[in-house]
Amino acid sequence: MADHAILAGKRVLLVIAGGIAAYKSLDLIRRLRERGVTVRAVLTEAGARFVTPLSVQALTEDTVYRDLWSLTDESEMGHIRLSREADLLVVAPATANLLARMAAGMADDLAATVLLATDKPVLVAPAMNVRMWQHAATQANMALLESRGVRRVGPNEGVMACNEYGPGRMAEPMEIIDAIAALFAEDAHRPLAGLPLTGRHAVVTSGPTHEPIDPVRYIANRSSGKQGHAIAAALAKLGAAVTLVSGPTRLPDPAGCSVVHIETAREMLAACEAALPADIAVCAAAVADWRVDGASDRKLKKDGGGPPTLALTENPDILATLSRPGERRPTLVVGFAAETGDVLAYATAKRARKGCDWIVANDVSPGTGTFGGSDNTVHLIRADGTESWPTMPKDAVADRLAEAVAEHFAGK
Ligand SMILES: Cc1cc2nc3c(=O)[nH]c(=O)nc-3n(C[C@H](O)[C@H](O)[C@H](O)COP(=O)(O)O)c2cc1C
Repeated sequence: MADHAILAGKRVLLVIAGGIAAYKSLDLIRRLRERGVTVRAVLTEAGARFVTPLSVQALTEDTVYRDLWSLTDESEMGHIRLSREADLLVVAPATANLLARMAAGMADDLAATVLLATDKPVLVAPAMNVRMWQHAATQANMALLESRGVRRVGPNEGVMACNEYGPGRMAEPMEIIDAIAALFAEDAHRPLAGLPLTGRHAVVTSGPTHEPIDPVRYIANRSSGKQGHAIAAALAKLGAAVTLVSGPTRLPDPAGCSVVHIETAREMLAACEAALPADIAVCAAAVADWRVDGASDRKLKKDGGGPPTLALTENPDILATLSRPGERRPTLVVGFAAETGDVLAYATAKRARKGCDWIVANDVSPGTGTFGGSDNTVHLIRADGTESWPTMPKDAVADRLAEAVAEHFAGK
């Protein structure tokens, strides 16, 4: 039996198609969750004839996604996000029909669409009548999918629900879990050799900080963390071991990164220092410059004495601290400058003042939509000059920055 410890904290998107074995997927959900796996489920229309969405919802403790055209589902969790915010997609049972649709690259319902849109590994557990399984069409579809990297567990041989004997029974839940664990273990041990940042450690900060006023109130800012999280993911994709130190955001932890959740600037600095040594530091978080001096440990009350006066005191400067020369200074320190005017002039001055190597400058004036938005327009300021990049999605900014980091280390 595979070691299941690797499963804790993993996210599985389970597609339940319309086969008689769908009832076993309920047990699969339960057993995965017992092992610390977060399970999100997509049910095909036929799947919902075999198991009730309510059972699946109760077992996953999450919404069950069923309809490509549901405005609610799409606005809460678009089909692309659904397919990406998982570490693995598991199709159990995988019907002959769904395997055919996957092989043909169809996207005619939510299940097929997420399977086509995903950039994550896919594991299928076929389950069908023995003749359906042995049919040349199904065998060709399965072979094609496997040649494209889709992994398979089962089917097992035995007596089928239709009383025929042969291969076609879905693998048992524990066999599927073994296959999932083996797949994650393989991934964990696969050397990322060949990737340009393999062997490099990056510390990335992201999101806002929350500075308490009292136990229920805090000072915050509008940072969503989208850019910082995207940078962490982009560096990990290029092979770096990434520690993401994140303030409070509504974003899921990016895959492949080790994430430290903090609230205040002081906690962020401590987490960054604890993560050293690192080759790369990217400070993308919007760290509060000030915190309340002597935050109250009791809720402040309207007691008729007028509003309280909040005295502020300066927070530690994380970028300047990480940039300070010394043995523990990361080789490349990248800061962000969020400005609302004279962006280049302020950002260039900031690079010199903080002692970092690069500054990524962006205009966060109201109307640019940068804070919380999906796009960003940035300038990369280095010692040897400034590059102005066109407006692009934050993911693309992250990829381009990660490539620039990789190029920087290529010669070293
Ligand atoms: C009672 C019954 C049991 C079925 N069992 C299976 C099955 O085990 N495997 C399979 O591939 N199809 C099975 N089918 C056929 C699928 O439900 C049908 O092809 C459906 O369109 C699959 O849709 P989906 O792949 O989108 O879930 C069964 C149909 C019925 C009526």
